[in-house]
Amino acid sequence: MGSNQNHHYVLRGNINKKVCLRLVILVLVLLVENGGAAARLERWESAIRMPTDSDIDQDQGDPVDLDQQLGTRWALLVAGSSGYGNYRHQADVCHAYQLLRKGGVKEENIVVFMYDDIATHALNPRPGIVINHPQGPDVYAGVPKDYTGQYVTAENLYAVLLGDKKAVKGGSGKVVDSKPNDRIFLYYSDHGGPGVLGMPNMPFLYAMDFIEVLKKKHAAGTYKEMVIYVEACESGSIFEGIMPKDMNIYVTTASNAQENSWGTYCPGMEPSPPPEYITCLGDLYSVAWMEDSETHNLKRETINQQYETVKKRTANANDFTAGSHVMEYGNTSIKAEKLYLYQGFDPATVKLPPHDNQLAMRMEVVNQRDAKLFFMWQMYKRSETGNKKREILNQIKETTRHRTHLDKSIEMIGSLLYGPQKGGSVLNSVRSPGKPLVDDWACLKSMVRSFESHCGSLTQYGMKHTRAFANICNSGISQVEMEEAALAACSGHDIGQLWHPSNGGFSA
Ligand SMILES: *[C@@H]1O[C@H](CO)[C@@H](O)[C@H](O)[C@H]1NC(C)=O
Repeated sequence: MGSNQNHHYVLRGNINKKVCLRLVILVLVLLVENGGAAARLERWESAIRMPTDSDIDQDQGDPVDLDQQLGTRWALLVAGSSGYGNYRHQADVCHAYQLLRKGGVKEENIVVFMYDDIATHALNPRPGIVINHPQGPDVYAGVPKDYTGQYVTAENLYAVLLGDKKAVKGGSGKVVDSKPNDRIFLYYSDHGGPGVLGMPNMPFLYAMDFIEVLKKKHAAGTYKEMVIYVEACESGSIFEGIMPKDMNIYVTTASNAQENSWGTYCPGMEPSPPPEYITCLGDLYSVAWMEDSETHNLKRETINQQYETVKKRTANANDFTAGSHVMEYGNTSIKAEKLYLYQGFDPATVKLPPHDNQLAMRMEVVNQRDAKLFFMWQMYKRSETGNKKREILNQIKETTRHRTHLDKSIEMIGSLLYGPQKGGSVLNSVRSPGKPLVDDWACLKSMVRSFESHCGSLTQYGMKHTRAFANICNSGISQVEMEEAALAACSGHDIGQLWHPSNGGFSA
C-alpha cells in the first residue's frame, strides 16, 4: 500500500509539470488564435485545477515520461514451440510484442524468444505475415529476433531474465538489465506438462529451476515487481506449492496443475480462421488477455480485473472439457495495480468499445496435445495427390503409434514397480492442491532421463507423463529400480528405430 501511495506522489509531481506546460500552451493558443479559443479554453481549463487521483487514471500522458518516474518496464516474451502445427504459440508472442509496443514499452526493453519458422513456412498462406485472430492484422512485422532457432533454450531464458549477458549463448545478447525500481512482465506460451514447460530445443524447462531463477533475480534486487502470465497444459503445476509469496511476483496460469490448456481459432471451428489456414491461430487464455488489453484503458483496469475477465473467458462457459481454470500464485496484493505499469498504455484503446460480449461467446477449441494431430488431419484433408495423402497418413500413423508406445511403456513401468493392480492409480495420483508435484525435483529429472535412455525421447506429447515420474519419486522408488523397470518395459526396442517413419514403425 505504501508503495502505491508513493507512486501517486511521484505522479503528482509529474502532472504538476504538465500543468505548467499546459498553461504556457494555453497562453500561446490564446495569443495566436482567437476563433477557436473559446472551445479550447474549456478543454484546457480542466488542467488548471489541481489534479486528483482520478485525473491520474484519465491522464493519457506520454508513457516515456512515466518511465523516468516509475522505473523502466521490461518484458520477456517466450514462445516455447516450433513447427507450423504450433503456429499459435509464436502468433501469441508476436501479438504480445505489438501490444506492448503500442503501449509505449520500448523495443530495447522487450526480449523475444521465438523459433521464427512460421512467417516464412512453406505452409503459411500469407508469406511473411502472422495473425493471431481470424480478422486480425499482421503481428509479425517488426518483432525483434532476439533469440530464434537453436537459441530458444531454457538456459538462455534464465540468463536473459537474470540479466547475465555472459551466460547467454547466441542471439542478440539482449537481456533484462533491470534496476531495483523496474517492473517486469513475463509471458510464455507453449505446450507443457506436470512440472515442465516445453522449449523448441531440449531440455524442457523444469519448474523448480525456473523458481530458483526467480529467487536469484529477487535476491539480486533488480526489480520492483514482476507479473508472469503462462499458457500451457498443467501450467499451474509450475508454481503450485513452490512459488513463494514474498518475492514481489504475481503469476497467473492458463490452467491448474492437472488440466489441459486450449488452442483456439482453429480450422473448421467457431470462430474459425480464414479458410486458407490449416492451423490454429491462437490459444484461449492468451487471446483472452490480449484482446482484453486491447479494448480497455489500461490506466484504469487493474491486473485483477484482467485476471477475472480472462478466468471467465478461459473457463469457456464453464465447460472444462473445452476450457480450463485460470490460477494465480505468488503475491496477490500486486494485482490491485493498474495494468499499464506492465503493459503500457495505448490511448487508442480508450476509444474502442469494450468487447464484453466476448465473454458470452463460447469458443471452440482443441486441446494443446491433440492440436498436432488435428493439424496433420487438416493437411491430409487438403492434400490433392494420392502420394502426398499417403505420406501424411503415414506421419499420422507414426505419431499415434509413438504416442501409444510412450503410454504403454509408462503403464508397463507402473505395473513392474507397483504391480498390475496398483500401477495406474499410483502413477496417475494427484496430490492435494497446494502441494508441489514432487518433493525432490532432481529425482524427477533423473527418472525422466532413465526413461528416455531406454524408451526414447518423451517428446512434446510425452510431457503429459511427467506426473508419473514425479509419483515414482514421491513413492520412494530408487534410481536403480527405475532403471531396471524402464529397461524391462522397453527392452527389445532400438530407440533409434522406434518411431522413425523410414524404419517401418515399431518392432512390438
Ligand atoms: C506483497 O506485495 C505488497 C505490495 O507490493 C507488499 O506490500 C507486501 O509486503 C508483499 N507481501 C509479501 C509477503 O512480500
